Amino acid sequence: MMGWESIDTHAKQWIKEAGEKIRASFHQTLNIQTKSNANDLVTNIDQEVEQFFISKIKEAFPDHRIFGEEGFGDKIEDLAGVVWFLDPIDGTMNFIHQQRNFAISIGIFEDGIGKIGLVYDVVHDELYHAISGKGAFMNDEQIPSLKETSVNEAIIALNATWVMENKRIDHKLLIPLAKDARGTRSYGSAALELVYVAAGRMDAYISLRLSPWDYAGGVVIVEELGGFATNLKGEKLDYLTKDSVFVAKPGLHETILKEYLKEGKW
Ligand code: IPD
Ligand code: CA
Ligand code: CA
Repeated sequence: MMGWESIDTHAKQWIKEAGEKIRASFHQTLNIQTKSNANDLVTNIDQEVEQFFISKIKEAFPDHRIFGEEGFGDKIEDLAGVVWFLDPIDGTMNFIHQQRNFAISIGIFEDGIGKIGLVYDVVHDELYHAISGKGAFMNDEQIPSLKETSVNEAIIALNATWVMENKRIDHKLLIPLAKDARGTRSYGSAALELVYVAAGRMDAYISLRLSPWDYAGGVVIVEELGGFATNLKGEKLDYLTKDSVFVAKPGLHETILKEYLKEGKW
C-alpha cells in the first residue's frame, strides 16, 4: 500500500482544488435544497465537491472506501481497511448565509484508527492537518501540544440549542457547565470548532448527534495534540452512526466528565 505521507499529499492537493471551486461558487447562484428538515440544507456545491473527491480518491486509491455526507460514496457498515470520512462542506448553513465559517473536513482511518486529519477553512485559506504521530499543523506552522486548564478558565463550544428545551436531552443538565465556564461560543461548524480546540482558541467542544464525517478529521488533529475525544458518556466514539461528541484538553476532559456529565442520559 502507498504510504500515509503520499496519501496526505494527494488529499491536500485535492482539498486546495476543492477550496478553489467553493470560492468560485461565491459568484454563482446556489441551488439550495432541504434534507431531513427545513434547517438541514444542501447545495449543488456540497454535492459537486463530494463527487470531485470521490472521483479523485477512486482513481488514485481504488481499494479505499468513502463515507461521505451527501451519499455519493460507499455504503459503510464496518471500518475494515482504509476509509475516508468526508464532509464536503461542514457548516452548510453558514456557507449559504454568511459565505464564511465553514470547512472541508476529511478524516482518513485504517481499520478504525485515525491516520490523517484535514480541516480546510476555505475562506481564510487555513489548512489544519495532522498525520498521526507526526505532529499537527496550521498551514506550515506546527501547533503546540494542548495544556491542561480548569473549567473556570475554559471557553466551551456549546450551541444554545442544548441549554434550551429541546427534543434530545434534558436541557437543564448542561446549564451548570455553561455557568461555571469562563465563556461559551458557537460557530456552526463542528469541524472548525474542533480545530479551534486544537489551536487553543477554545478549550472544549460539546454537541449531540453528530455524524462521523463531522468530527473524524478534527478528532485526529485534536488527539495528535494530546486532547481527548469521546461521546458525552465518556465512551469511545462510534464512527459508524450518529453519536454525541465531547472533545477537550487533557485534564479538562476528565473534570467535565466527572463533575458535569456523569448524571446525564446522553
Ligand atoms: C453541521 C455542522 C453543525 C452541527 C450540525 C452538523 P453540516 O454540519 O457541523 O455545526 O451542529 O450537527 O450537521 O450539515 O453543515 O455539514
Ligand atoms: Ca457536517
Ligand atoms: Ca456537510
